[in-house]
Amino acid sequence: MNIHYLGHSAFEIITKGKKILIDPFLVCVPGYEPENIYDIFVTHAHNDHLGSAINISASSGAPITAVFELAKYCAKKGAKIIDMGLGSWRDYSWGRAVLVPAFHTSSTPDGQYGGSPCGIIFEIEGKTIYHAGDTALNSEMKMIGDVYHPDIAILPIGGKYTMDIEHAVIAAEWLQTAIVIPMHYNTFDAIKVDINEFTRQIREIGKVPAVIEIDGSFEG
Ligand code: NI
Ligand code: MN
Repeated sequence: MNIHYLGHSAFEIITKGKKILIDPFLVCVPGYEPENIYDIFVTHAHNDHLGSAINISASSGAPITAVFELAKYCAKKGAKIIDMGLGSWRDYSWGRAVLVPAFHTSSTPDGQYGGSPCGIIFEIEGKTIYHAGDTALNSEMKMIGDVYHPDIAILPIGGKYTMDIEHAVIAAEWLQTAIVIPMHYNTFDAIKVDINEFTRQIREIGKVPAVIEIDGSFEG
């Protein structure tokens, strides 16, 4: 499995030639061309996560999986959708996924209620990957650690709108994860961080910081 970072909170997970696209806000990779996209996931309705999801769904035919209200919004705009609530696994051609709570807000670019913001847990090739979406540190992460045992946690670290580095380090402990991939930092001035500080603090608690450069990949 390959985790390809597209900047901000956008990733492709590539498994056996199939690509899963997450939160495709693609300002960091202007030359990006979606290819072989089987499924699109959107954690919440904010523009820096919904991004190009609707257009990519309409052109590729790949469905957008999102929480009920956001999925219905995407369907009205011409996307194929898979609507879900939080809390139960759904099977896909490449594995399975479940939406979990995130502590944040969610409104569409035109101001409609976007449903509950979510994190997503993927089970692919026997590995569990947690994409936290935009969230504050919260005790649900202890539940996620106990119930799902993520091998890899993808956590926001930019602060202001989400967790910062200090809280991401606590989250990594609660999640009982081995590997932490940072996201949602340095895209804008408001979420600027010193990434070396993230690396240092994650190493200090005995975990592996996997900082992926934009358009770079991590082999999981
Ligand atoms: Ni947000
Ligand atoms: Mn965001």
